[in-house]
Amino acid sequence: GAPVEVNISKVEPGQLIRVEWRGKPVWVVRRTQEILDGLPAIDAQLRDPDSVEPQQPAYAQNTGRSIKAEYFIAVGLCTHLGCSPTYLPDTFGEQVEGVASGFFCPCHGSKFDMAGRVFQGVPAPLNLVIPPHQYIDDSTVLIG
Ligand code: FES
Repeated sequence: GAPVEVNISKVEPGQLIRVEWRGKPVWVVRRTQEILDGLPAIDAQLRDPDSVEPQQPAYAQNTGRSIKAEYFIAVGLCTHLGCSPTYLPDTFGEQVEGVASGFFCPCHGSKFDMAGRVFQGVPAPLNLVIPPHQYIDDSTVLIG
């Protein structure tokens, strides 16, 4: 499939937008500083805190799993059996105490943080996949 160009200039802090790439949903989430500051603190609750290498390109092998910390870009499919997790920007604390926002898979209850990292004790074995991508300019990212 062809790469997909996404204009991210109107994505508000905390907002998630969806695009389609190779028939898959891809999310772009604009993360706040508060979200970013919270990521390292939950490492101990994660199943794959350092993220196995194939789950992201080398340039996104970092805590935020991204090129730019502010923008989280991921394939929106659970690594268990491929359902699409639900973004819970405000109520994720009902799933994981003390963690304000994240993604919850309605199929079998897998939970992912704001870098798509899977929590312990759920069926999904791996973090969400980060697709290959690059920034063309400050407001445009090319997926694929
Ligand atoms: Fe997401 Fe099973 S498909 S938990």
